[in-house]
Amino acid sequence: MKKIIAVDGPAGAGKSTVSKLVAKKLNFTYIDTGAMYRAVGLKVFESGKPVNEETVTEIAKDIEIRLDESARVFIGEREVTKEIRMPEIGNMASAVGKFGFVRKKLTELQREMAKSGSVIMDGRDIGTAVLPGADLKIFLTASVEERARRRFDELREKGISADLKKVEEEIIMRDKQDSEREIAPLKKADDAILLDTTKLSIAEVVEKIVGLAEAE
Ligand code: DC
Repeated sequence: MKKIIAVDGPAGAGKSTVSKLVAKKLNFTYIDTGAMYRAVGLKVFESGKPVNEETVTEIAKDIEIRLDESARVFIGEREVTKEIRMPEIGNMASAVGKFGFVRKKLTELQREMAKSGSVIMDGRDIGTAVLPGADLKIFLTASVEERARRRFDELREKGISADLKKVEEEIIMRDKQDSEREIAPLKKADDAILLDTTKLSIAEVVEKIVGLAEAE
């Protein structure tokens, strides 16, 4: 049985939905690294300060981010699980994720969390930079139209109003920003298994990953 599973891929590929379900089936801990970048993004957003390396580093130095067993997200004592899901915070997370201090701080935290036992961690750079020694690496993707539709449905379910075309544009912009940054860009690790989920149901993707994790 594989003990450490890394799941990477572009925005809206279904990483968190699938990873949560795989974690449940295998009795693994799910670690959402995007939530951590979003927490930094939320703090920067709330500060109203310009998004440059100096201010972002200053803000990131001071914040203590914690995920609990139910994947709730905290900055210090304050729970921010819901706020960080706002679309503008996703964009902000991508913007702050290009700075070296933020990546270093969050990568260290993520590696520490992965020591706790059997984990499935999702993000953009898990297989390439955070846990290059992971037992199983998955790169999840889907067409941009499909990813936009999924993200749109997800937002609607959460009661957040959105425009499909705008969601698609944001996804394209975010993938570009995440793939082109200098440090730990979004990239498939050479030894990751590519799963295109455009035509697969959530259950099918979960089943595939569970099968791969259980294989010798
Ligand atoms: O997975 P998500 O949409 O919650 O991630 C939000 C942003 O955070 C993403 O666009 C880029 C950044 N991120 C990152 O740089 N590295 C990670 N491992 C996870 C997320």
